[in-house]
Amino acid sequence: MSGFSADWLALREPADHAARSRALLDRAAAAVAGRQPVHVLDLGCGTGSNLRAMAVHLGGNQHWQLVDHDPLLLAKARAELRRWADAVLRDGEDMLELSFSGRRIAISFIAFELSGGVGPLLVEPVDLVTAAALFDLASPAWITAFVRTVAAAGLPFYTALTFDGRYDWEPSHPDDAAVRRAFLAHQRQDKGFGPAAGPDATALLAAGFRAAGYAVSEEQSPWRLTGRERALIASLADGTAAAAGETGQLSDERLAAWRAARRLAESCLIGHADLLALPSAGQCGGWAASAPARRHGARSRARGRRRCAAPPAPRA
Ligand SMILES: C[S@@+](CC[C@H](N)C(=O)[O-])C[C@H]1O[C@@H](n2cnc3c(N)ncnc32)[C@H](O)[C@@H]1O
Repeated sequence: MSGFSADWLALREPADHAARSRALLDRAAAAVAGRQPVHVLDLGCGTGSNLRAMAVHLGGNQHWQLVDHDPLLLAKARAELRRWADAVLRDGEDMLELSFSGRRIAISFIAFELSGGVGPLLVEPVDLVTAAALFDLASPAWITAFVRTVAAAGLPFYTALTFDGRYDWEPSHPDDAAVRRAFLAHQRQDKGFGPAAGPDATALLAAGFRAAGYAVSEEQSPWRLTGRERALIASLADGTAAAAGETGQLSDERLAAWRAARRLAESCLIGHADLLALPSAGQCGGWAASAPARRHGARSRARGRRRCAAPPAPRA
């Protein structure tokens, strides 16, 4: 397991939702407007934050596949989404159905290890592949293979909150640069997909999708935290010090002093990027097929995708 705690994901959710680029989210929603239902595949879903951020921007009838390898987080996602909903319409083993803000939302929870690739997840109907705060964990090779799989299916892709390397605290501390160096080194360690792309992930996704003929848009989505988010700042200071400590680049004493100061920081900026990649109008695939064809469901989609030629390998 990657070891993300539900408490940490709950703490960061308001900051994530505030930071996400609204313009890109609106464009992602527009790209799948009119799908009834719209089928969304959310990779590395954690406790369901991405669904809670996106649902109100999508159509009235939604089907989400929430995918994570951590069964505890999937169970927590079900509980959190039940709490978040206006009403629970059905709570079956295979599917949870909710209503929220006039939408009907069906959700499947899928325990799946992503490091082997996402191909098996595209057997079910999918209109939009999405993820939040996931891709900096993945390796460059995995990202390359991921882009090829999604592009071969001709599917739109939208991701939010990929760490981009910016890590600025106020007021400054003498060990900021050393801690940042160690933290970034830790970001590139193996997070279950091979050595991680860390802050390069968005550039790799963008290059890959462009090489596959997609129109790619990027927006910054930094956290700008102040004393109002004291608990998140303190937790970030703890997590950064722990990660930096694992690299062995700084002594425990230096890290303890940095951490104590940083828990009381006035503000900090943590850089993230959002990315939307849309297949061109003429590109093949279930998604790019005509609307009537799409309404035939999974089999039509699968047939549509099989007509796709594999895109060229991304150069990145
Ligand atoms: C930083 S959390 C983001 C969670 C959620 N998307 C959000 O925005 O709150 C990364 C998530 O990816 C999941 N994850 C990491 N590596 C994975 C893997 N190899 N296979 C499946 N899920 C993975 C973790 O369990 C965790 O839920």
